[in-house]
Amino acid sequence: MPEASLVEQLTTGLTPPVATEPVTIVIFGGSGDLAHRKLLPALYNLYVDGLLPPRVAVVGVGRKDTSDADYREFAADGVKKFSRRRPDPELWQHFADSLYFVGAALDDPATFAPLGARLDTIEHDRGLPGNRIYYLAIPPSMFIPTVNSLQRARFVAPPGGRTFARLIVEKPIGHDLESAREIDDAIAEVFDERQIYRIDHYLGKETVQNILILRFANSIFEPVFNRRYIDHIQLTVAEEEGVGTRAGYYEQAGALRDMVQNHLLQLLTLVAMEPPRSLDAEVVRDNKLDAILSLRPIEGTAVDTQVVRGQYASGFSMGTPVPGYREEPGVDRSSRTETFVALKTYIDDWRWAGTPFFLRTGKRLPKRASEISIEFKEVPSILFNADPASPLDPTVLSIRIQPDEGFALLINSKIPGPRIRIYPVKMDFRYGATFGNASPEAYERLLLDALRGDASLFTRSDEVDYAWRYTTAVLHGWAELPPPSFPNYYPFTDGPDEANRLLAGTGATWRPLAEM
Ligand code: BG6
Repeated sequence: MPEASLVEQLTTGLTPPVATEPVTIVIFGGSGDLAHRKLLPALYNLYVDGLLPPRVAVVGVGRKDTSDADYREFAADGVKKFSRRRPDPELWQHFADSLYFVGAALDDPATFAPLGARLDTIEHDRGLPGNRIYYLAIPPSMFIPTVNSLQRARFVAPPGGRTFARLIVEKPIGHDLESAREIDDAIAEVFDERQIYRIDHYLGKETVQNILILRFANSIFEPVFNRRYIDHIQLTVAEEEGVGTRAGYYEQAGALRDMVQNHLLQLLTLVAMEPPRSLDAEVVRDNKLDAILSLRPIEGTAVDTQVVRGQYASGFSMGTPVPGYREEPGVDRSSRTETFVALKTYIDDWRWAGTPFFLRTGKRLPKRASEISIEFKEVPSILFNADPASPLDPTVLSIRIQPDEGFALLINSKIPGPRIRIYPVKMDFRYGATFGNASPEAYERLLLDALRGDASLFTRSDEVDYAWRYTTAVLHGWAELPPPSFPNYYPFTDGPDEANRLLAGTGATWRPLAEM
């Protein structure tokens, strides 16, 4: 018998947080990319792990005229290509039986009557009571008409009733503060805040959840997590891939809206927030909100001095030409959409006053690597750090979000031998080495939580609102500046050189991506 992995040994006998209430999951955008790559594979994995409710139906809704059988094929293809587990023929068959597809044009309110009739039939056939989770995996321009139609067609049970209705909202929620508020207001007309689950899939990543464990389940970090001991913090989310086939969306978004407004600001709040008094979803979200409210806005001329944007040029990968952003299919030849953003920001509270946070994200960088690097202050220039010609390396705690999940502490140590020579060594924890590769995908965790009615790992309306306020100020600042001279970085480099000016005068340097 194979030896049980550490995760298995540690979790044997524990009841997993199973979702028990029978439910119909309605995916608007059910034949789209997100459903194919993430949602259907995640649901399949939850099913294999025995975490889905015993009675469930998954109904994809989309424009295509697809039969249930074809939709099951589409799902099987997604699972084959993108699931962390290969489909097991027997289990797959059972899971596939719960998949359905309904063709519907969401901008046509008349579509909701036949959709409702089909949902009723499916629920009747499968003995489902009418609990519904609606997933908006559609462009944000469709959010308002869809929720309005849900209301008009009486699809939404009020909270506290016999059955429940929940809404999962994918990002981007709008494209600036104004449109985000319009969407939020329209959703709030139909759903109570307790029924709304705004997804930021970074919050479903094990390594992101571990930030709070690292900070608040160990006594050595929290006392030094502040302006007295920390010189600066760098947050990097780098991607090797270009825009691929997503130009239709990305041209309107750009890196600031696509990554900073949500994922990077969420990482920032987890690193910077005060210890919550409990793990209650509202308490954690209140503290995250405080951190985000303390972010110093970047407005007016600060946009030029504190933010750098970039767009990738064409280049080569191992001798093969790689198109620049402007040559990607569907991209305007003179596009000004940024594929890279770096910014310097401050959190004006007692813990962090004066400590710079450097955020950076981009496509077509040398590798996929997300890391939070916490750089501690130098030791005084005495003893081992007395020689200004060879200063000691700072102590660095780096939290690797992905793909090489783990964290490392870089500390100075003596090189063995008769002389005193110092070398920074790494104390390294790797998830894979300790726990095996058992981590579920972020979407699995988040879908399970939505099924169980636990909103802790979802963002609240006010968090999203402030994140938009913060990023919209930058967008307004950019609109006032002369157009950027794009493209300005070669693929598979660390982004535009100009990003270095954000660190000028701080003594910090960007962590080379190759070292992550
Ligand atoms: C999405 C963005 O939210 O996150 C994509 O829209 C990006 O542009 C993706 O590629 C990155 O997610 P992950 O989990 O691969 O880091």
